[in-house]
Amino acid sequence: GNKVITIVGSRNKDLLILEDELKENSSRLLIATDDGSYGIKGFVTTVLSDVVSKEKVDIVYAIGPVPMMKAVANMTKPLNIKTLVSLNPIMVDGTGMCGACRVSVGDKIKFACVDGPEFNAHQVNWDELISRLSLFKKFESASFENFKHNPECKCHKE
Ligand code: FES
Repeated sequence: GNKVITIVGSRNKDLLILEDELKENSSRLLIATDDGSYGIKGFVTTVLSDVVSKEKVDIVYAIGPVPMMKAVANMTKPLNIKTLVSLNPIMVDGTGMCGACRVSVGDKIKFACVDGPEFNAHQVNWDELISRLSLFKKFESASFENFKHNPECKCHKE
């Protein structure tokens, strides 16, 4: 019985996923591409801004890249629209024991793997999350460079 407006975005038309499935499960599907190759040119926040200016929106669910979720939270907070985000911090054990997925939500420390991953977007410490997500960037870059020069998988070699 809910009116569900889905906004999906991608960098370009070729990277868009699940269009048919989202259309089938939405009252309206709005598509945004960064380069304008399909749907509305712009980010999902561009489209969301238009939707919340025209519709009475009770709740927003934002799932995707952290900068996008942060931008959605910053948009909906002053409008007092309840917003839930699905966080994707670095996870190791996924059982609540290692603490790798620690996020600050309100004045509490939460573990996304067992306490989430959905949280109130307006209480997430976004800057801390972004900082923690980049902790291993140097190692990821080095690993990628190594892979580019030696792309053969060694999993099955002795
Ligand atoms: Fe280890 Fe969540 S992944 S506590």
